[in-house]
Amino acid sequence: MAEPALGALPDGVHGAELDRRIAEATEAIGARLSAEPPLGAPRLVIVLGSGLGGVVELLDPEPRLRLPYGDIPYVPAASVAGHAGELVAGTVRGIPTVVLSGRVHSYEGHSHREATLLLRAVLALGVETVVLTNAAGGLDPDYDPGDVMLMTDHINLSGDNPLTGPNLDRFGVRFPPLTDAYDSGLRAGALEAAARTRVSLRQGVYIMLAGPSYETRAEMRMLRLLGGDAVGMSTAHEVIVARHADRRVIGFSLITNKATEDVAAGANHEEVIEMGRLGAERLVTLLGDFLPRLA
Ligand code: HPA
Repeated sequence: MAEPALGALPDGVHGAELDRRIAEATEAIGARLSAEPPLGAPRLVIVLGSGLGGVVELLDPEPRLRLPYGDIPYVPAASVAGHAGELVAGTVRGIPTVVLSGRVHSYEGHSHREATLLLRAVLALGVETVVLTNAAGGLDPDYDPGDVMLMTDHINLSGDNPLTGPNLDRFGVRFPPLTDAYDSGLRAGALEAAARTRVSLRQGVYIMLAGPSYETRAEMRMLRLLGGDAVGMSTAHEVIVARHADRRVIGFSLITNKATEDVAAGANHEEVIEMGRLGAERLVTLLGDFLPRLA
């Protein structure tokens, strides 16, 4: 069947062309990974949010392979400070793993389809488990900067969805369910890891907005009323493509700032990066216990 004219989707690539680009990216990454046999068939992908580059140190020292996003066809370069923009492949105590250090966001001018192209390219290598991380503002008044939150669910208020356009049948169905998108078994494992490592772990609902401006006080009040515990500008679109492809998903938010209506001053990017570093240590500790048990 001919693809419909996509007048409502002027923002770039979709359907067969999107599929072709994902396949080309998969092939380019796969060719590099298979040059290092233990890395050839990754089972785990970890996406890093702002300031979370330290997670790369959880990879075993050898072998490691670094692939700048610019070297992967059709992958937009990440341009925001705090986002390195490279794929790092390695093993976590023997589990072949791909770390996406830096992500592109829709506020950089990309549709969700383009912003998730790289993740889909990696999923197509056979990855089973997707670990997502982000920096977020705390809507729950009890949250403090430096807290780590296990995502129990999300609300996508970004105004976009990566599955718009013709369905890519090789990944999944047209109308994927998102109930229980955040894997309960993985979450139980993360809570156990938190207890073992004595890292305090919040649990809550993440709201994705488009950004890039931070929220007004009225928006913070609204987001809390809607049931959000944390707010950020990423992740939900990645959960959607991962669940579309029926992969197991877990997500962690690093609370970098308060996002409550009575906050003294709003967030700024420097604070987000700085508190990201602080809280990242906790998250790295927790993941250091959690990830090897995924074997
Ligand atoms: N709002 C939206 N995105 C964010 C925030 C915030 O307060 N902090 C970090 N990312």
